[in-house]
Amino acid sequence: MVAGASPLAPDQGFALDPPKAGGLWKPGLFPGAGGEMTLADRPRVLALAVLTEVLRRRRPFDEALEAGLDPSGLEGRDRAFVRLLAATALRRLGQLDAVIAAMLDRPGSLRPEVQDLLRLGAAQALGLGTPGHAAVDTTVTLAAASTVTAPYKPLINAVMRRLCRDGPAMLAGQDAPRLNTPDWLWQSWQAAYGPERTRAIAEAHLGEAPLDLSLKLPAEAGRWAERLDARVLPTGGSLRRAAGGTIPELPGFGEGAWWVQDAAAALPATLLGPLAGRRVFDLAAAPGGKTAQLAAAGARVVAVDRAAGRLARLHANLARLGLSAETVTADIARWVPEEPADAVLLDAPCSATGTIRRHPDIPLLKGPDDVARLVVVQTRLLAHAVTLVRPGGVLVYTVCSLQPEEGEERLAALLGSGAPVEPLPIAAHEVGGLEELVTSAGTVRTLPCHLAGQGGLDGFFIGRVRRT
Ligand SMILES: C[S@@+](CC[C@H](N)C(=O)[O-])C[C@H]1O[C@@H](n2cnc3c(N)ncnc32)[C@H](O)[C@@H]1O
Repeated sequence: MVAGASPLAPDQGFALDPPKAGGLWKPGLFPGAGGEMTLADRPRVLALAVLTEVLRRRRPFDEALEAGLDPSGLEGRDRAFVRLLAATALRRLGQLDAVIAAMLDRPGSLRPEVQDLLRLGAAQALGLGTPGHAAVDTTVTLAAASTVTAPYKPLINAVMRRLCRDGPAMLAGQDAPRLNTPDWLWQSWQAAYGPERTRAIAEAHLGEAPLDLSLKLPAEAGRWAERLDARVLPTGGSLRRAAGGTIPELPGFGEGAWWVQDAAAALPATLLGPLAGRRVFDLAAAPGGKTAQLAAAGARVVAVDRAAGRLARLHANLARLGLSAETVTADIARWVPEEPADAVLLDAPCSATGTIRRHPDIPLLKGPDDVARLVVVQTRLLAHAVTLVRPGGVLVYTVCSLQPEEGEERLAALLGSGAPVEPLPIAAHEVGGLEELVTSAGTVRTLPCHLAGQGGLDGFFIGRVRRT
């Protein structure tokens, strides 16, 4: 056993910019940097900074990554490597921590900076298949470059060596889905979906999600599938690329032929009925994946969101696609339009636990309190959304959450509240004939383990009602 390190003062950590200052990279990133850092170490430095931002400052992964990469000067493969490395450490954190802890006498006393370095080293050696000597060398080099971690070089070296030797066998004996899933999520999914499904969901979270695209002209799916080296999914026309890729470089991006949208996220907008010429409110619309679908189908869309910055992204996305929609910056709960809509789509703010494959920080940053807080918001927004539909019109409520409190239970509460709505059940033929997506209540529940053989789906709830 390697002896655990004793904690030092907490203010001697890696000097990262405060979140509001933007970039994570700066020359003084490693105070007193000596050692033998080279430009080639930059991606690992950034991955470490991103990991630290997420785990210590509770900053969302995408935001930390953007703040780190944008001013970094890194390009192409290096950028992709930073993302992959930090994402792997987050996705496999439970497993990596268990292996690291098994190699220390007093794992609890490991100081945070050393722990994060070891996590990054372990993610390379055990998650990405980096050859052992390279994982050890680069981790020790990183350690040497900070006055905070340099004194722990011998410890880091010893743990990394042992980890490279014994780690793979330890990993093989681990219960990976369980170790990487926090208790509260595991228990909530067990209660909602049962033990087998829970395990399948958590298993799906161990991998990266594929790249799905929605087409401006769905009738041209065959042609675009060929050009993009993608397959047409049975869910209703989404294309899935096997290999991902750099988005702006893919065929059709510049000409606005498609946009990135998970196949499950593309379902809600298709459940509003015929759209051509109809007045449709897209509530909580930014950055506009569903707005684009509605506009492409010929609806007269009013897209409402309270975040001006995110609405600016919606504008940019629609402009690239050559589509248009009226936009309103407002809190939906207070927004009163001049006349109601034929159809309303409410894509409510939620815990986003259905998108863990794309956002591996979610299990680490969100908790049951967030769900409880969001339930209050969703209840309020849903009640107000009903008032925005004309009698006879349709309301679709959706969340990208696996938590039934945010989905199934919100729709049931609405139906039981005396609101002027009646259920409008969704049939399997409306979701590509995929019976497994439709519940006995006529709602849609997608899970990351659905279409498992084809790369899975994000977890969405979709419910539909008619205004009476
Ligand atoms: C799940 S995202 C929407 C994704 C979007 N529908 C799409 O398909 O691209 C949730 C959105 O809700 C917005 N939002 C949250 N609370 C809101 C409120 N009270 N009023 C208006 N927008 C709100 C957020 O700004 C965020 O853009």
